[in-house]
Amino acid sequence: MPERSWFFAINEKDLLDESIQFVRVRGTPIIMFKKNGEIYSLYGKCSHMGCRLSRDTFSSEHVLKCGCHGWEYNISTGKHLGDRDATLETYQNKVEGGEVFVLM
Ligand code: FES
Repeated sequence: MPERSWFFAINEKDLLDESIQFVRVRGTPIIMFKKNGEIYSLYGKCSHMGCRLSRDTFSSEHVLKCGCHGWEYNISTGKHLGDRDATLETYQNKVEGGEVFVLM
């Protein structure tokens, strides 16, 4: 497995609380958002039929709901909430000098 590195994803000032931002990091679609001061980074396409997750909503405190057909994911683990064996990849992130980096 290749060694992982930190890559710039977005400026922290562009992450408004509860607003989802879609970015590409090394060609990988990622959604970034801040919730209660915590920054989350998840794979940006739904495991169901690949809808882009940038226009979606939080259906509750820790649940991201896909706008296409309603699949719901835990924002911390990326796991589908229900009986599907589907998980969105999550990425560790860090903030340095007002910039957010993801580990991939
Ligand atoms: S593409 Fe997300 S629920 Fe169908």
